[in-house]
Amino acid sequence: TAVSFNNVGLKKYVKPSELKEIEPMIDTAESELMNGTGVGSEMRQWLDLPKNYDRKEFEAIKQAAKKIRSDSKILVVIGIGGSYLGARMAIDFLHDSFFNYMPDSRRKDPQVIFAGNSLSASYVHSLIDMIGDRDFSVNVVSKSGTTTEPTIAFRIFRKLLVKKYGAKEAADRIYVSTDAKHGALRQEVKAKGYHSYVIPDGIGGRYSVLCPVGLLPIAVSGVDIDKLMGGAAQAESDLTSHKKIADNDALKYAAYRNILYRKGYTNEIFESYEPNMRYLAEWWKQLAGETEGKDNKGIYPTSACLSTDLHSLGQYIQQGMRNLMETVVKVENAPYNETVPSEKSNLDELGYLQGHTMNFANKKALQAVVIAHTNGGVPDMIVDIKDQTPFTLGYLIYYFEFAIAVSGYLNGINPFNQPGVEDYKNNMFALLGKPGYENLRKEIEAHKND
Ligand code: PA5
Repeated sequence: TAVSFNNVGLKKYVKPSELKEIEPMIDTAESELMNGTGVGSEMRQWLDLPKNYDRKEFEAIKQAAKKIRSDSKILVVIGIGGSYLGARMAIDFLHDSFFNYMPDSRRKDPQVIFAGNSLSASYVHSLIDMIGDRDFSVNVVSKSGTTTEPTIAFRIFRKLLVKKYGAKEAADRIYVSTDAKHGALRQEVKAKGYHSYVIPDGIGGRYSVLCPVGLLPIAVSGVDIDKLMGGAAQAESDLTSHKKIADNDALKYAAYRNILYRKGYTNEIFESYEPNMRYLAEWWKQLAGETEGKDNKGIYPTSACLSTDLHSLGQYIQQGMRNLMETVVKVENAPYNETVPSEKSNLDELGYLQGHTMNFANKKALQAVVIAHTNGGVPDMIVDIKDQTPFTLGYLIYYFEFAIAVSGYLNGINPFNQPGVEDYKNNMFALLGKPGYENLRKEIEAHKND
């Protein structure tokens, strides 16, 4: 199978009897998810999305991608949180590390650049500078249509499009993914006639990568989105048809990380050994953190990119506070390989490695780290993935979504809301002077010197 769970780094930490003990709880959590009996059940539309998606819209997305690929050198994707991390993660995971850096003369795909995920003017300024006089299109993604960061960025890039192409062509270069009926963006689509796609009601941001939110930018980057959906559909078949932990690798992951959590391993470090999986970790952190971190509980999700961070965080992981567990994504067949060149002089004392491949060294590093960390008090979970293809990524996306949703029910919370995200937003609206937030502003002003 494309994705599997390996418990080799857990033997010291989890007894078989503990797995047996948690099985009935996992069973209940899984049933809540599958049968819709848990809280937040209206937000489970992602659960059968790989098999049950809008085929007509899927084709429209492919057509739009074709058009953007033919008339644009750059696609600017505007969105934040769940409206950007999935696409960013998938494009990084499926392309070479320097995908966005290749000069136009050597590119066969447009650059896909993300904006509206911070309030940094410097970032926007340098992006405009980088676009220069090249052709570009904009994909704005926001379910609510009112999130501050993307809304500001959209105003700026919309203005740029209109200046460059005039109102009519600008409208034809704007692609909007938003709610079917509600929100300011939907109203704007109606008024201006932009291309538009629907973010289904029952899909929240962090579970949205396989709907238009992720699919359009991923397709524009040249990825075969049929294969991506195919992998996710395979995962849906495999993971929703087996209730026993022993037969279901996503439930295994959910079970082990929750056994460890209950023993005080409250921080989970998500690790990979490929730099183009850095955003896989960022996507997973949102998925896990927003799903589980509520009601004063939940595993704290964090990440490291190895072997890079062994030279920075490695010391802490090996010998710091013992509240850490690790989840390592291990790639069986990396897309490329390089051999350590042979040299007669051996001045760098690397002779023992010449003729071996870098992938060999990378796998040995992983093995060495698992041994060192498990001996040092950090339990290691390994998620093996076969390769870095669209099919495997589709499978992996569904694997984590399913496992994390089950984990949420296991902890007795609503896995699909994110009430905590609103607090800062409200304060920010108040401080920025948004109409309707006058009382909150007064309250903040009154306490500012407390
Ligand atoms: O998971 C979430 O709900 C958030 O991260 C949202 O995706 C993020 O705040 C963006 O929201 P919107 O798509 O409404 O602009």
